[in-house]
Amino acid sequence: MFFRQRPAANATLSYFFGCASLQKAVAVDVVAGDENWFIEEAEKAGVRIVHVVDTHVHADHFSGGPALARRAGAPYCLHESNQGRVGFGFTPLVDGQRLDVGNVLVDVVHTPGHTPDSVCLLVRDLRRGSEPWFVITGDTLFVGAVGRPDLAGQERAMAAQLHDTLQTKLLTLPPELEIYPGHQAGSACGAGLSGKPASTIGFEKRFNPMLSMSKEAFVDALTAGIPAQPADMASIVAANLRGVVPEAAPA
Ligand SMILES: [Fe+2]
Repeated sequence: MFFRQRPAANATLSYFFGCASLQKAVAVDVVAGDENWFIEEAEKAGVRIVHVVDTHVHADHFSGGPALARRAGAPYCLHESNQGRVGFGFTPLVDGQRLDVGNVLVDVVHTPGHTPDSVCLLVRDLRRGSEPWFVITGDTLFVGAVGRPDLAGQERAMAAQLHDTLQTKLLTLPPELEIYPGHQAGSACGAGLSGKPASTIGFEKRFNPMLSMSKEAFVDALTAGIPAQPADMASIVAANLRGVVPEAAPA
């Protein structure tokens, strides 16, 4: 497989990976203005972009996903809970669904908590083994931190849901599994993120302070330390729900 992690604006981490031999690729959490980079990387790797995924409707940056999907002729994918909320056609993702990216298989895991529509992507490379190799965690689990729970309102209920999601859907994965988060230090989407852009489930389980708390302590700690909301959040979310971002959007 090939794999690229792109540090983008607003401390966002985007991903582009896939199967060079069967010439298929998936783009994840594309920031507006970065579309050309994905097109150029696809040309370099000799692959076709077959899926463009946003792990959730972003509140901190304009998504480049819909524009890249249109240019690549690929489906733009969001969790199915966005049906009726997003004002343009997208391909709904359901929990447990598998995306075929050649010898690379991508399983969708619904992981509500940061937002109700958050998904993580569990990735295996059949050329290396039948077990998952890494998980793209979006804003659900960061290196050293977890996603903020307040962007959709009801922050205590969302924090409790995030605790359940983390404990039952991510921390049950094998300890050697790599995690690739949606942000690194400097992001408004969480507090206390490491500047290191990758980790493993096992290391986070041992050393991420948010992962060893009772649900009650987790909810108290997470809702006590909420950072300021991203600037222009309402207009960013509105644009991402329309699928049309302003010209030369500040990425
Ligand atoms: Fe987010």
